[in-house]
Amino acid sequence: MSNEKTHATDSASVPSTSSSAQHSVLRTKHSLCLVTGANTGIGLETALGLAKLGPTVVMLCRDQQRGESAQRYIKQQSGNDRVELMLCDLASQKSIRKFADEFKSRYQRLDVLVNNAGVVLRQRSLTQDGLESTFAINHLAYFLLTRLVLDLLEKSAPSRVVNVSSAAHHYGKLAINSWPTANNYSAFGAYANSKLANVLFTYELARRLEGTGVTVNCLHPGGVGTNLFRGLPKFLQAAIKLIASSPEKGAKTSIYLSSSPEVEGITGKYFARSRQQESSAASHNIEAAKSLWRLSEELTGFIPSEKEAGAVS
Ligand SMILES: NC(=O)c1ccc[n+]([C@@H]2O[C@H](COP(=O)([O-])OP(=O)(O)OC[C@H]3O[C@@H](n4cnc5c(N)ncnc54)[C@H](OP(=O)(O)O)[C@@H]3O)[C@@H](O)[C@H]2O)c1
Repeated sequence: MSNEKTHATDSASVPSTSSSAQHSVLRTKHSLCLVTGANTGIGLETALGLAKLGPTVVMLCRDQQRGESAQRYIKQQSGNDRVELMLCDLASQKSIRKFADEFKSRYQRLDVLVNNAGVVLRQRSLTQDGLESTFAINHLAYFLLTRLVLDLLEKSAPSRVVNVSSAAHHYGKLAINSWPTANNYSAFGAYANSKLANVLFTYELARRLEGTGVTVNCLHPGGVGTNLFRGLPKFLQAAIKLIASSPEKGAKTSIYLSSSPEVEGITGKYFARSRQQESSAASHNIEAAKSLWRLSEELTGFIPSEKEAGAVS
């Protein structure tokens, strides 16, 4: 196979394909999955679960040490040597563009993209691009990264985009134009808005990709005991840990949407516990989804191709 330029292609260390044979999108050892925020929490368990199915798994992480330690763990636990680490700070559009360029120079296919990395930020802050950080990391990074690798996903169809959202999206507000610059900051409000943006983005992208063989779905992973809430007061963190499930359980729906033949061809849906669920009324607002799309293009300086510009206005 000619798809990966930098890796041995017939590594004997690829696990048995007996389980991957059931997972049609990952049916060959040439398949490639990209998981963001793969060094800890739900992303780590998602990358591990996918690595066990046999494809090459590329972990997008922001910190070399944390990334390498997780990479060693995933290789060891999965028996899959084709687990690669690439660095990227999703708070920086420059870093995302550099990552996408490097990714495309190394790989010529992409079967599954899991946009998983996310934050809850107690204090309002701006990224180096001058954007409110929660919105930038939790939504704009999903948008920009996906757009930059869409050509690979289209080339590799049938392929899948899986966006990790949250039930918190039910509390999100559609005041789209105020999202990046809101003055009345609350950690949960900013988070809920960004998670609503994940669902709106999923539905809009699915509409735009109809007929391409690229499916796009989003999910709520459940309440999961991870580092996500590290910025919150200690008593709240402790309370969350008491009722939360394990990251391994939290990764199940991401792995299901990334690999199960049961969801082949299903697109533009919201899942929890590996089942389709109803998302909020606001998430179905098509005008809001279009406005968010245009705003995201503006804020990322993304120039749509002529084909895209003509397809949906
Ligand atoms: N935990 C829950 O109960 C829950 C519920 C609903 C939805 N979710 C969603 O699940 C997803 C994963 O969250 P989690 O619970 O697994 O949280 P987590 O343990 O904090 O993991 C988040 C991951 O995102 C990475 N990340 C954060 N900012 C980044 C940046 N600027 N550049 C690159 N990577 C960055 C983190 O890297 P570092 O380790 O370097 O910080 C980490 O790998 C999020 O989208 C979250 O909204 C979680």
